[in-house]
Amino acid sequence: MKRLLTGIKPSGELTLGNYIGAIKQMVAEQDNYETFMFIADMHAITVRQDPKELKERIRKLLALYIACGMDPNKNKIYLQSENEYIASLSWILECHTYYGEASRMIQFKEKSKNNENFSVGLLTYPILMAADILYCDADYVPVGIDQVQHVELARDIATRINNVYGNIFKMPEAMVKESAIKIKDLKDPLKKMSKSEDNPQGSIALLDDINVIRKKIMGATTDSEMRIVYDMDNKPGISNLINIATSLSDYSKEDIEKMFEGKNYGEFKRFVADIVCDEISKIQEKYNELINSDILDKILDEGIKESRKLAKEKYDLLREKVGLIR
Ligand code: TRP
Repeated sequence: MKRLLTGIKPSGELTLGNYIGAIKQMVAEQDNYETFMFIADMHAITVRQDPKELKERIRKLLALYIACGMDPNKNKIYLQSENEYIASLSWILECHTYYGEASRMIQFKEKSKNNENFSVGLLTYPILMAADILYCDADYVPVGIDQVQHVELARDIATRINNVYGNIFKMPEAMVKESAIKIKDLKDPLKKMSKSEDNPQGSIALLDDINVIRKKIMGATTDSEMRIVYDMDNKPGISNLINIATSLSDYSKEDIEKMFEGKNYGEFKRFVADIVCDEISKIQEKYNELINSDILDKILDEGIKESRKLAKEKYDLLREKVGLIR
């Protein structure tokens, strides 16, 4: 079975948009690939973090992913920082990466612009990411479009090292899901749904109170017509709600259009709210079971074993090839 690897940075809270646009796909993939899923906590500290908050966010994120259906029996789930070989491997990769290459990364350029005090970690961030990917010979790396350049850098580094020292790394491929549905902001349906702290009324966090979620959907921006039809250009609000409903149920767009012919927007919103609240309640129930239990620790303890074993093998091999050996 081909190997698929995903890293998730513990930043911000997860929204309904993340759930529909990315997490559900990941959950579906776990049957098709041997999957590695880790929390990229080391990537979070390229900018200063509050330690207590970071610790909490890591745990919450992990509990939420599992509550959303990531199955610890099908995935290796681990914490990046608990695998010390990744950072060690990253150092050797850094020494095979040109400063010019690293400083050309778009994300680095954007984040270092207008900021005099950025850390060197911001520059080496994609090289640590290369170590994440290359140590376990990942075949596929599902990423957002903004991370494709980083996967390409990982390929360049791998090619260079393979050319010099023989066949060490497998060539990973970025997997960009263009077809994933992009859920829009409920108040401004032309914008992507993003973290709810930035826009509390337009965004649904997976850990929002269920009554709050219902209110947000009932208050979603629509239009002045009274037709429930899918038309992204002319009816972005209604179309967004239809996308939400079809993503979380077996109804098709056509089913919904038929069901709500001649009905009003209030009825339609109540229908969408029921679907969303039902799905999120189930997630929250599982989340609440997990968050204060020791199951999470057991999952991480188990997941890290295979990860460390593979990373040590790769690190020892490369160390030897490079001449870091007695
Ligand atoms: N940089 C990725 C992001 O911001 C997170 C990440 C870290 C990652 N290491 C990775 C993703 C390895 C895929 C593979 O989303």
